[in-house]
Amino acid sequence: MDIQSIIEQMTLEEKAALCTGASAWTTTPIERLGVPEMIVADGPHGLRRLANIYEWGGGSLPATCFPTASCLASTWNVDLIHEMGKALAEECIALNVDVILGPGANMKRSPLGGRNFEYYSEDPYLAGELAASLISGVQSKGVGTSLKHYAANNQEFQRFSISAEIDERTLREIYLTAFEKAVKQAQPWTVMCAYNKVNSTFASEHDELLNKILKDEWGFEGLVVSDWGAVRDRVAALKGGLDWEMPGAQARHVQAVIDAVQADELDVAVLDESVRRILRIVFMASETPKTGEFDAEAHHALARRIASEGMVLLKNNGILPLKGQQQIAVIGRSAKHAHFQGGGSSHINPTKVSVPFQELQSQVNDAEFTYAEGYPSDNAFRQDLIDEAVTLAQEADVAILYIALPTFKESEGYDRRDLDLTKQQIALIKAVAKVQPQTVVVLNNGAPIVMGSWIDDVAAVLEGWMMGQAGGGAIADILVGKVNPSAKLAETFPVKLEDTPAYLNWPGDAGTVRYGEGLFIGYRYYDKKNMPVQFPFGYGLSYTTFAYRNPQVSTSTFNDVDGVTVSVDITNTGSVAGKEIVQVYVHDRESVLARPEKELKGFAKVELQPGETKTVSIDLDFRAFAYYHPEYKQWITEDGNFDLLIAASAADIRHTLTVTLESTLNLPCILDKESTVREWMADPRSKPIFSPYYDRLEIEARKRFSGDGGEEKRYATEGDVGMDVMEMFNEMPAVSVMMFHQKAWSQHPEDIIADLLTQVHGQQR
Ligand code: BGC
Repeated sequence: MDIQSIIEQMTLEEKAALCTGASAWTTTPIERLGVPEMIVADGPHGLRRLANIYEWGGGSLPATCFPTASCLASTWNVDLIHEMGKALAEECIALNVDVILGPGANMKRSPLGGRNFEYYSEDPYLAGELAASLISGVQSKGVGTSLKHYAANNQEFQRFSISAEIDERTLREIYLTAFEKAVKQAQPWTVMCAYNKVNSTFASEHDELLNKILKDEWGFEGLVVSDWGAVRDRVAALKGGLDWEMPGAQARHVQAVIDAVQADELDVAVLDESVRRILRIVFMASETPKTGEFDAEAHHALARRIASEGMVLLKNNGILPLKGQQQIAVIGRSAKHAHFQGGGSSHINPTKVSVPFQELQSQVNDAEFTYAEGYPSDNAFRQDLIDEAVTLAQEADVAILYIALPTFKESEGYDRRDLDLTKQQIALIKAVAKVQPQTVVVLNNGAPIVMGSWIDDVAAVLEGWMMGQAGGGAIADILVGKVNPSAKLAETFPVKLEDTPAYLNWPGDAGTVRYGEGLFIGYRYYDKKNMPVQFPFGYGLSYTTFAYRNPQVSTSTFNDVDGVTVSVDITNTGSVAGKEIVQVYVHDRESVLARPEKELKGFAKVELQPGETKTVSIDLDFRAFAYYHPEYKQWITEDGNFDLLIAASAADIRHTLTVTLESTLNLPCILDKESTVREWMADPRSKPIFSPYYDRLEIEARKRFSGDGGEEKRYATEGDVGMDVMEMFNEMPAVSVMMFHQKAWSQHPEDIIADLLTQVHGQQR
């Protein structure tokens, strides 16, 4: 398709119209030039394809509801997520959708985030890898994706307007990295900008985020679409890099673009670039014929497989897998009314739904089952329901509690107020556990809950997440041991809300939310504070055990650009087959800027028969060791020693290997007029020329504060200022400290520093 020639034939009106949707879910077609319409639909863990594609609301067509992102992420299985991506694409093809609006790659800054169920992790490396595999799975079938919500869309409170105030380094290392990875590794056809502002500028108008970083620096080739209703100023958004506004139609915005071009306020080249990006994707989409049907049964089975691989066994005193119990008390509404997805734009009309209770019954033939509702659908407190459950639990060999966090506590559109289950649910668990020590709790929720008040009383806890339409079967598969759990948490479960990283800066007020915890979200925070958690990042139990032996690294000294490969032998030391998730974290022993204690930089999932051993190899590249330096405005590495932690979770380090990195970077000198004495002495390029001044300063320090004309006394004594004077000088701008001792220099210190700066900036390493 000759896009350039189409652009040349388009009128200004047609160009402006193309840059805004024609309806809630479609692009503006241009029949006379053969430009077709493109259809998009939500996303991200199944298709919400409205029956009437031109309308905002109304019912959606049946589609497979896969597990939501919290569950998907807990699989740590990139191949499985890729497979799910392919299944999503098949449904798009059958239901006439060109682009699915997902995945979401925002960080889980606080477990209170209402939409956390749609996001993968508190760790940008993990989220980026998983998003990339979903995208490449979908796109391998000629269907597009929309990586969202770019960027810093981490809360629902004032989500359309709040300004996320984030320092540059934190933005780069925490909030942009997952997007960067997904863009570079998988080139999503579209990226959806967030509603919120980032450092006072709407994400939809953010030249730095959209034009400079996403398009220029990362090489994003697709189009940027607005989140639905995120555009305030259409012309500013076009200039900022927002190609396609949704939803349409927005005649007033289209006219504003036309007017701006005619008034010479908007360069037509800017409009043409957006038109080019949109046309490219529209034509790419049209190459995939939308026909046929999808295999609903096969997709349901895949959804079950993913759910069972994403559910995390958090506690097990040995009761699971169930074996030989004669009387099973099933308690809790969600046993009969599966809670398998979240509320909002990702809400799917499932092709069918597995009922957890029925699924369990069908897999355990030789037991008798009883059922009690346990808690109501609303927030009422019903002691009668608890009493009924207790009676059944007492009479049984085991009680299985199905507890779902109600939608009034968790959804898109509003944040959670606390991390608790309802009062009724907590009372229910405690009452049942009191009479029945063999109590198993099965949770359905999209984000961590606190469990301190009851976890010690129960025998087992299975985190079932928002598990998708086939989750009921997946729970049963795990409870009976047909599936050996192999999921691990992609986010920390804290002991209490007050412990969480963003607690003091959540959710913000007066139009801004300050990301005051900086780099330290998730395990980075708990590590740094050495704070206990309920369950750490990367944690999950299995019905078997694994040994980690023979850790190796390809070389102990290496260049940053070459990287290293870590390997370890994993043996299944138990009696059933299972899968283990091996994690590699990097700890920088010494760095100029503060760094987290450790950061995840690689992982692998390996399947092993009992007694079997496999060698797992994980490559660590430049970025595994680098951090973003806001003064150099680039990712940098520093010479020195790094520990490579081979781990079963963030709190379970099995082996540590130490390597020495040699940086290949030739960084520019960043000294300026305000640089301190310490900084002048730290840079190998400035140290030799500054040293004479430093020596002189030491003499001055002694003279000035010892009061006796310069004897060997650097530390203050009685009657002096009571300090190590040179230590103070070290922290002062060189020019300032030199100006306090003007008589020591033949030139004015401002001229000396100006001269030294000329010398160092001219000089390269
Ligand atoms: C959500 C997006 C969604 C869009 C279309 C917005 O409110 O934030 O995630 O894709 O609506 O439904």
